[in-house]
Order: sequence, then structure tokens, then C-alpha cells
Amino acid sequence: MIPILVLHGPNLNLLGKREPDIYGHLSLDEINQRLIELGNSIGLKVECKQSNYEGELIDVLQRAGQSAKGVVFNPAGYTHTSVALRDTIAALDIPVIEVHLSNTQAREEFRNRSLIAPVCVGTISGFGWYSYALALHALVNIFGQQAS
Ligand code: DQA
Repeated sequence: MIPILVLHGPNLNLLGKREPDIYGHLSLDEINQRLIELGNSIGLKVECKQSNYEGELIDVLQRAGQSAKGVVFNPAGYTHTSVALRDTIAALDIPVIEVHLSNTQAREEFRNRSLIAPVCVGTISGFGWYSYALALHALVNIFGQQAS
């Protein structure tokens, strides 16, 4: 099983209650459970973490560089503001995929720009919890290509 970190940024602990018309009705625990089960079925050992703090997200990402083979990251509001998180990801040697529940390109203009996207292998946005699932499949594909 390949170790993968799924990391959720600020306010995603409120999923289910927070603007459900935009972010859906599933709680963060329910999403994490689905991702762990999906991971088990496609050869990934998924560990899920969430933080509301930029510095903690940085620490977790730095540690993942030593312990995980890939990261699925929803930077939430920090997507649009954080040079520090971008620098952290740029320094990692493992693939990071940016995900969003909502389609950030179809929302307010300030959400159209991601400081994180240029240092990720790709971005998946707009499919609700399934954005994360698609990212896990993308990682399996990346690892398959590396092996061949
Ligand atoms: C989000 C989109 C961000 O713009 C927003 O700040 C979030 C959630 C998403 O998953 O759709 O908190 O990352």
C-alpha cells in the first residue's frame, strides 16, 4: 500500500454545515471515510488531516515529504493568498494535487486565482467530495507511469 496524505485546509472541518449549497452535505469525517475506503481498494494507504492554521499545514506538508509518496491538498481559503504554502509545496519532491469541492473558476473573481496551482502536478475542482477521489486515481496513474 502506498502512503498518501489527504490534507484539508481552513474551515473544511465545518463541511456538512458550512454553505451546503456550495460544499455539499457530507461531513469531513464522511468524506475521509470514503477516501480511506477508496484508497484501500486501489492500493493507497490514505491518512487524512485538517488544520485551520497556515503554519500547521506547512509543518504537516513538510513531514509528509518524508513519510508519504503523494499528497491531495485542499488549501481552501489559503489557495488564493498563501505564498508560504506555495513555497512549501515547491520544496517537496513528491506529487501534490490541488483539489476543490466547488468550481472555483465559476465563483467570485478572487477565487479564480490560485497561488498553489503552479507548484502542483494538477488541479481538480468542482466535483464535490469526488474531486478528492479523482485526485487519488490520478496519483495511482502517476505512480504507474513512474514504475513503467
Ligand atoms: C474551496 C474553495 C475556496 O475558494 C474556499 O475558500 C474554500 C473551499 C473548495 O473546496 O471549493 O474554503 O477550497
